[in-house]
Amino acid sequence: MFEMLEEIRAYGLTSIGSADGLEALEKARVELLGRKGRLTSLLKGLGQLTTEDRPKAGQALNMLKQELEAACENKKAEIARQGIAVRIKGFDPSLPGRQMHSGALHPITQVLDEVCSIFGRMGFSIATGPEVELDFYNFEALNIPADHPVRDMQDTFYIDDKVLLRTHTSPIQVRTMEKTSPPLRIIAPGKVYRCDSDVTHTPMFHQVEGLMVDRDVSFSDLKGILTFFLQEFFNAEAAVRFRPSFFPFTEPSAEVDIQCVICRGVGCRVCSQTGWLEVLGAGMVHPEVFRHVGYDAEEFTGFAFGLGIERFSMLRYGIDDIRLFYENDLRFLRQF
Ligand code: DAH
Repeated sequence: MFEMLEEIRAYGLTSIGSADGLEALEKARVELLGRKGRLTSLLKGLGQLTTEDRPKAGQALNMLKQELEAACENKKAEIARQGIAVRIKGFDPSLPGRQMHSGALHPITQVLDEVCSIFGRMGFSIATGPEVELDFYNFEALNIPADHPVRDMQDTFYIDDKVLLRTHTSPIQVRTMEKTSPPLRIIAPGKVYRCDSDVTHTPMFHQVEGLMVDRDVSFSDLKGILTFFLQEFFNAEAAVRFRPSFFPFTEPSAEVDIQCVICRGVGCRVCSQTGWLEVLGAGMVHPEVFRHVGYDAEEFTGFAFGLGIERFSMLRYGIDDIRLFYENDLRFLRQF
């Protein structure tokens, strides 16, 4: 009996020690300690021994069982360590880690947020509308007649006779007034689309529309709010001027210029030597627009304005090609 134990011990330790992987180790373990294993059969044979020999033999068997089990556990840990060593071979833990770049908001998003935040401080809330728009909201309700040149296929992306990609954010004025009764004060940021592409035009760009309607809103309210906004955004000292202009949905209408932010009014390439930059379209809401949404033009007056975010961003950062915003070149985008 004791000789047999010694033999199993020698055999067992060798087969466990020489196992070259988890599978081989498991095979060795089953052969020794499994239900039909060599040690297990010996345990079953204990009953045939005399009562004197039995306790001693039992003790010896148990000790060997524990020894072989421990050898299996050790071997298992060793195999795991080797596995890790193989996987990290060629890995130099003293090298510096890979640099992680954190993302940032696109410059257009940053400028859009800033414009919204300035108007937010003046009590304007944000309104939105669909980019795929009905002819009615984009043109008709804004008093843009059927034969107006902006309705031309060359400027507008039509989906069918009545559906198009909005060419400006002004339809949001109409949609908002339809749903809300005055007074109201909103700005409407969003993407707009036009068939146009060169250094200052892309087929998709961003506008912010503004609208304020109440009793006794006058042109001086328009001047005050837009002057404050432009000086807040560009430069508190820059002069602002209003020039008469025309838009079908406002009367009177104005274009708003700011003293050139590049040359400070002296004259340069960006302002075509005039010292002024045109940055906004604006005016008093046309009674015809009020009529379309059921507002009483005798009781209420209002002003509206629209501006292009790409233009504001180009002036803010001194960028001379609008297409840079949409090429997704990280060398450009990382600068913001
Ligand atoms: N919708 C005009 C455009 O896209 C901008 C504009 C001008 C909006 C005057 C207005 C406005 O609300 O009053 O060029």
